Amino acid sequence: MSNSSIGVAVIGAGMAGRAHINGYRAASTVFDSDLPDIRLVAVADAHEPFAVDAAKRYGYERAETSWESIVDAPDIDAVSVVVANNLHRPIVEALLAAGKHVLCEKPLALDAAEAKAMFDAARRHRVMLLEAYPYYFQPQTGALVELLGGGAIGAVKSIQACFGFALANAQDNIRMKPELGGGALLDAGSYALSIIRLAMQSAPARVTADATWADSGVDISMMATLHYADGRRAQLSCAMDTAYHRRAMIVGSQGAIETEYLNHTSAQEGGDEFGYLPSELRVRRGVANSIPFETMHGGVGSGFRFAAEAFAKVIGEGDFAAIDRAARASLDNAATLEAIARSARTGSSADIPSLS
Ligand SMILES: NC(=O)c1ccc[n+]([C@@H]2O[C@H](COP(=O)([O-])OP(=O)(O)OC[C@H]3O[C@@H](n4cnc5c(N)ncnc54)[C@H](O)[C@@H]3O)[C@@H](O)[C@H]2O)c1
Repeated sequence: MSNSSIGVAVIGAGMAGRAHINGYRAASTVFDSDLPDIRLVAVADAHEPFAVDAAKRYGYERAETSWESIVDAPDIDAVSVVVANNLHRPIVEALLAAGKHVLCEKPLALDAAEAKAMFDAARRHRVMLLEAYPYYFQPQTGALVELLGGGAIGAVKSIQACFGFALANAQDNIRMKPELGGGALLDAGSYALSIIRLAMQSAPARVTADATWADSGVDISMMATLHYADGRRAQLSCAMDTAYHRRAMIVGSQGAIETEYLNHTSAQEGGDEFGYLPSELRVRRGVANSIPFETMHGGVGSGFRFAAEAFAKVIGEGDFAAIDRAARASLDNAATLEAIARSARTGSSADIPSLS
């Protein structure tokens, strides 16, 4: 790799994999002097037609059927890992050991020990490891972070965050399979938790959770209360058997912010040609209910494209500090997800040891 050019590959060309593949393609056309040139090198999927079709459609040089061929390829510098959750750790660790930078789909790991081992490996091999939540990379999330950091709503006291949807093709879907790391908590709850962590800026000390279980053994829906050492609380809910809903209400001592924290956004009412919708970010600056919520507007587009650009940028700049900050949030989230699952299974509250 030179500072001005990186070769990228995507492992997994399923639902989310195709979005990553397209994200790099879109990022490769962006002119930005801070952004290295992105070479679209390879797509790998165990199901050959997926790899071949995606490579052809999005202009990648080659299609592969094994992820090992990506690990071994000298012309690849950076890789998105977009396969079922149980495969994240083995593939990511092999890539890191081969000196590749990795953008891994959420949830990064099945538990806290896995996440820690993965970040330890990234540090050992001096490469980047970043967890992909597309909404993180939306300009709207940047605006949210600025509002919170600038004290627009005072001290953050609590947050309620939800994400749920109706699962398609439940029979074959990886989300219904416990052996693949399925379940509503890891799939959708990880999103709600990630924005809770973003607003609260720390991990809870203890959680209590309650779930409904599918016959396959995965949680089909879950609710959890998160208790923080300083007395604050947050609530999370997630589901795979409801109408689509996604929202967070962040409440501060001096105001409140409501957001849909969408992965992909559009300025067009009713959605654009890709199905992206306008995403709400509304802020009330003050404590009185007579103060109207102000709607914030900003840049819009595919979160996968923004993620690809951000990933390429930190690689080009060698910005290990940015990765360290992101790692702290990912480790907190992995430990919290593990505790929530434990609490839901045992019916007792679960403590969270600090990993960061
Ligand atoms: N960020 C998001 O918006 C978002 C959305 C959906 C899924 N995801 C995440 O992306 C990941 C994949 O989810 P999905 O919905 O795309 O799943 P999917 O089942 O649609 O795709 C997984 C792909 O992996 C391939 N695969 C399986 N084993 C493989 C192997 N050993 N080597 C190479 N390829 C292999 C399959 O053939 C399939 O094409 C999960 O971690 C999920 O949580 C993220």
